[in-house]
Amino acid sequence: MARIGILTGGGDCPGLNAVIRAVVRKGVPVYGHEIMGFQYGWAGVLEGDAAPLTPDTTAGILPRGGTILGTSRTNPYREDGGGERLVKALESCGIDALVAVGGEDTLGVANRLAQDGFRVVGVPKTIDNDLAATDFTFGFNTAVQICTDAIDRLHTTAESHDRVMVVEVMGREAGWIALYSGLAGGADAILVPERPFDIEEVCDRIRRRGKRGRTFSIVVVSEGAVPAEGTGFELPEAEGAQTDAFGHVRLGGIGVALEREIESRTGYETRMTILGHVQRGGTPTAYDRVLATRFGVAAIDAVHEGDGGKMVALRGTEIIRVPLSEAVADLKRLDPALYATGEVFFG
Ligand code: F6P
Repeated sequence: MARIGILTGGGDCPGLNAVIRAVVRKGVPVYGHEIMGFQYGWAGVLEGDAAPLTPDTTAGILPRGGTILGTSRTNPYREDGGGERLVKALESCGIDALVAVGGEDTLGVANRLAQDGFRVVGVPKTIDNDLAATDFTFGFNTAVQICTDAIDRLHTTAESHDRVMVVEVMGREAGWIALYSGLAGGADAILVPERPFDIEEVCDRIRRRGKRGRTFSIVVVSEGAVPAEGTGFELPEAEGAQTDAFGHVRLGGIGVALEREIESRTGYETRMTILGHVQRGGTPTAYDRVLATRFGVAAIDAVHEGDGGKMVALRGTEIIRVPLSEAVADLKRLDPALYATGEVFFG
């Protein structure tokens, strides 16, 4: 029997509780391990803030959004000696191995911990779907569904008023949510971080649609999208923008600038909607519940077999294990072929 810790770090994401439940349900009755849940990600590890998780205490959480463990963007390596503190804290809690559920930042810490010799297995979580080495992260499907539902609703009001609707979705460095929801919702333009955009091209599409009698348009934009240099449109400087412990600037608001610019260039009344954290809230879709459950079972299997320094990943229809170092080496950017499919439907 081993004592295994589990934590959830970074932005929350629908499906986290399904992972926790799966780790406990296989870890405790099947393998006979003790599972300790750390509160608030790496912060809880540093403070030794953990409590046992059992099939009873995790019953009923499968459909619940958020995470029963809480989460934070704490970076233990931000300070000198943080790595040693982390290992000592785990040792003083008697933890033999750890399951870290998170995105690039949480798993980056997990990778360093694994390199320091600690047995840690990662589970890929992020609504952004931008983690390399896995075809999909859990949470993404739910976010896309929420955005698609919103786009569908915005379509009917756009059509009634002959308006342009700008829909801002999450996606700091990759446009997966924008592209998938834009494709599913029939967007007329999709602006993503990987493709700096020319505002005049976007406006031309809207005007062309107007000439065909389509006097409304839907523009989906990732929060991290940027205008191409020299195209006559710049985003306002984000004064005093806050950064998190991993150095990420807080994004959000490109929709506001686009609303004004599109309206003044095209003459169409324009309205923007920022979907924000609605995309991360609420119950996970069936797809995410299944994927998160498969990841959780695969993670505890890897820990049980002593296979540390790995991340569980979806490859095709299989769950595999990949080195954590490979998983955090780079972000997964949009597939250009998929973007080209989206372009077929642009105005
Ligand atoms: O990393 C996931 C994510 O939802 C990003 O898409 C977004 O930029 C960020 O988290 C928002 O973070 P916070 O919850 O700290 O505002």
